[in-house]
Amino acid sequence: MELKVFRIARQQVVYYFDAAFADLSQLADKSTAILLTDKNVFEAHKSKFKDWRTIVIEPGEQHKNFDTVRYIIDRLAGYEADRNCLLIGIGGGVVTDITGFVASIYMRGIRFGFVPTSLLNMVDASLGGKNGIDFGLYKNLVGCITQPEFILQDVSLLNTLPEEEWENGFSEIIKHACIKDKAMLDELARYEIKDFQANQAMLDELIRRNVFLKLKVVQKDPFEARDRKLLNFGHTIGHAIENSCGLAHGKAVAIGMVLAAKISARETGFDELEKLKTVLNNYNLPTSTRFEAAQIFEVLKLDKKRSGEQINFILLQKTGKALIYPIGLAELQHYLHSFEKEQ
Ligand code: GLY
Repeated sequence: MELKVFRIARQQVVYYFDAAFADLSQLADKSTAILLTDKNVFEAHKSKFKDWRTIVIEPGEQHKNFDTVRYIIDRLAGYEADRNCLLIGIGGGVVTDITGFVASIYMRGIRFGFVPTSLLNMVDASLGGKNGIDFGLYKNLVGCITQPEFILQDVSLLNTLPEEEWENGFSEIIKHACIKDKAMLDELARYEIKDFQANQAMLDELIRRNVFLKLKVVQKDPFEARDRKLLNFGHTIGHAIENSCGLAHGKAVAIGMVLAAKISARETGFDELEKLKTVLNNYNLPTSTRFEAAQIFEVLKLDKKRSGEQINFILLQKTGKALIYPIGLAELQHYLHSFEKEQ
């Protein structure tokens, strides 16, 4: 296990690279820790949960809601969990988002840590401290920013990951490359998912590079006042179509990135749209979908990046260079209607 300490705001987050699930017993005491996972992860790794007090929730974004929060709190109370309890989320982004949220409100806040089991969660969702739940069609409308005490990374957990989840993970990796790392996009263009699945060292290196990239951005701007907003590239329209069109997060973000790149082409002169589409295709990610512009626009109006009559959109100037770019709601509505016809 290789340990790296990141200071984010006034909190300390310990990232354990090259670790194994079994190392959890060195980080947590079974008498005070409670594991939180979903049914899929629990079924795939049942023996690992033996002897740990465990709360198992339903899998899927549709369960990232108040009903599940209520269920978890009920179970914590049933275990008589007190303020010494350490809640450990083991799973994908839904599990870790809800773990961080419940831990932040239960008894006004208890300690928490994460063991991400999906690629997307290893390189993105488990990092940064944003925790929360959805509210109807509105993604992450309710939540907080509090950092986990630790993140334990066991890459062998990816061995049981369905192919679609690899694709979702690569969507966020491509996003990181688009906003901050042109060399990484050039490298990604030369490979496919199966190359990373077949080469553990290459996969480890890619995960590490993305963890460092994201945490560097978060360390500089933990509460998203400035540059951290760039990590939302592809997520403004992406989030709106994710729940409205019932798409997986990575796929929705891939389409969101293409649409943001098209807006970039008109607003900033970005001229690498075709390259972005080619890389997304390499990783089996979609570049378009049918959607109803009017419905997407209604969801966008409640986007957290809205400020009065404008939304702070993330556009690309070129690969590796993103910028915050206010777009008027009326202009955005116009773009959405023209994209609807193109799909
Ligand atoms: N939990 C995801 C983030 O903070 O960006």
